[in-house]
Amino acid sequence: MSKPTEKDTIDVLALLRESLDYEESGASHVFVIMGASGDLAKKKIYPTLWWLFRDGLLPDKTYFIGYARSNLTMEDVKKKVVPYMKVKEGEEEKVKAFFKVCEYVSGQYDHPKDFSRLNTAIEQKGSCNRLFYLALPPTVFEPVTLNLKALCMSKGNKWTRIICRETFGHDLEFLQPSLSHLSAMFKEEELYED
Ligand SMILES: NC(=O)c1ccc[n+]([C@@H]2O[C@H](COP(=O)([O-])OP(=O)(O)OC[C@H]3O[C@@H](n4cnc5c(N)ncnc54)[C@H](OP(=O)(O)O)[C@@H]3O)[C@@H](O)[C@H]2O)c1
Repeated sequence: MSKPTEKDTIDVLALLRESLDYEESGASHVFVIMGASGDLAKKKIYPTLWWLFRDGLLPDKTYFIGYARSNLTMEDVKKKVVPYMKVKEGEEEKVKAFFKVCEYVSGQYDHPKDFSRLNTAIEQKGSCNRLFYLALPPTVFEPVTLNLKALCMSKGNKWTRIICRETFGHDLEFLQPSLSHLSAMFKEEELYED
């Protein structure tokens, strides 16, 4: 085998740099709010994400995607959540920056093709860690998590986390089968309860 020439080395380094630049320009984390049209998302999840973003407590290049069936735009979601964000005078530019990294994807909870679209929306942000917050009634946890597992998991060395709301555990009859379902699908370190 012939030794690589100087030009070969330069070409390989250029390719490496290109792939690193791509990683750097993409998201580090994508936080997906499943049920983004709902009450919990509006009153608790978006405001909390905003406060963390405002105070610089999130990893750089964290993006947010809202997902729900309602046919909304990000502008509609923004109108719903801003009254709960307690924005102070002088924070207007920061609010703009927050909504610049937010988007909304509309889809059903039991349609694989919609979860493929969600996956594409995440992939377009680059290779990243993914967090899915289930701001949804527990009745749709099963189809949602089945579709997430099949179509939306992160790849390579990136991780995925599924976060369930605490009311999930209130009905014991519901709890056991749902917990079994979730623990059969996800590793322990992938599951969180809020
Ligand atoms: N709201 C709170 O402050 C609060 C506090 C503690 C715990 N929680 C818990 O957090 C979870 C979400 O609460 P939430 O108040 O945000 O609920 P929600 O507003 O009733 O539901 C959230 C979203 O889920 C979708 N959805 C509602 N009912 C559905 C159904 N039967 N089938 C399929 N999709 C449905 C709707 O979105 P689309 O129609 O657009 O898909 C809705 O916007 C619940 O488990 C609740 O018990 C809520």
